[in-house]
Amino acid sequence: MLSSASRALWSAATRQVRTFYVQSALSSDKLFVHRDTPINNSNVPFEFTPENLKRCEVIINNYPKGHEAAACIPLLDLAQRQNDNWLPISAMHKVAEILKMPRMRVYEVATFYTMFNREPVGKYFVQICTTTPCMLGGVGSDVILEAIKDNLGIDVGETTPDKKFTLAEVECLGACVNAPMVQINDDYYEDLTVEDINRILNSFKKDAKPKPGPQSGQKNRFASEPKGGLTSLTGTPTGPGFGVRADL
Ligand code: FES
Repeated sequence: MLSSASRALWSAATRQVRTFYVQSALSSDKLFVHRDTPINNSNVPFEFTPENLKRCEVIINNYPKGHEAAACIPLLDLAQRQNDNWLPISAMHKVAEILKMPRMRVYEVATFYTMFNREPVGKYFVQICTTTPCMLGGVGSDVILEAIKDNLGIDVGETTPDKKFTLAEVECLGACVNAPMVQINDDYYEDLTVEDINRILNSFKKDAKPKPGPQSGQKNRFASEPKGGLTSLTGTPTGPGFGVRADL
């Protein structure tokens, strides 16, 4: 039982702590262990399409003889793309068979990399980065995450009832300079505001793909150039030894 002084201290301390999000319960089971389900078990057949089998061959030929196992990640990725963006266990078995690898080695890869979805996801897989730069940049990823939840009516780790959207919270996606950002399928949407993310999600609801990249509306801003235009290297470069010191 806390004394009233301790209660007051606790309440003051908790008032100062900023909000932090706890991802919806993902047990370690869900992360690493396969459990058979009616749609995901080794009796559900998986075969690469003839086109993808040719792609597999090309990918494998990129690696020296005896090192075909190096093609494991690209082949798993190909299998996932063929299978509506998720990777069933029978696809892992197919990759193991093609690469002549023990199945366990393929399981190890598929469970280590979070890019592999081992359960079905929505048509549009929304991954929001909530690592520190995105948390602090612009309006902050906390605000964007709330806007996504409000717009889609789902929490992190959930899929909308129409199976169109799945929401995942992820670590840094390497676009920190344009924080906050989300990845939707293969595209990045950056420099987000609440209006931007709502506009983007509403477009995807109509199966229209909005223009990816920075959404800040900066003219000619294609990637992560400074918002106010160039501040250095704006003139014609002088040769080595010239223009460094006036007295030289
Ligand atoms: S912190 Fe979000 S992209 Fe790097």
